[in-house]
Amino acid sequence: TYVVTENCIKCKYMDCVEVCPVDCFYEGENMLVIHPDECIDCGVCEPECPAEAIKPDTEPDLEKWLGVNAEYAKTWPNITQKKDPPDDAKEFDGAEGKFDQYFS
Ligand code: F3S
Repeated sequence: TYVVTENCIKCKYMDCVEVCPVDCFYEGENMLVIHPDECIDCGVCEPECPAEAIKPDTEPDLEKWLGVNAEYAKTWPNITQKKDPPDDAKEFDGAEGKFDQYFS
């Protein structure tokens, strides 16, 4: 499965949503997550993310994000169409500590 990680927070570009063939993205206020049981591992979303926030679960140290994606995909609403990203998305690209300050 693929997972959305910290750099999505407050960037939330949503290009990923447009290319996902199985509509497995779920939307929080400041980031999206991937439903691990719905992702078919096609990998199409990974290069589409301008913030490079999507990773394959074969990468190391993703335990926290595997948990976040699995947990919040259960309750956040499904998103299948890209919306406008936040106006200040660029300012948050690469910012530190986004999970502690802005996760939602
Ligand atoms: Fe987030 Fe990247 Fe999608 S910033 S909303 S994972 S395109």
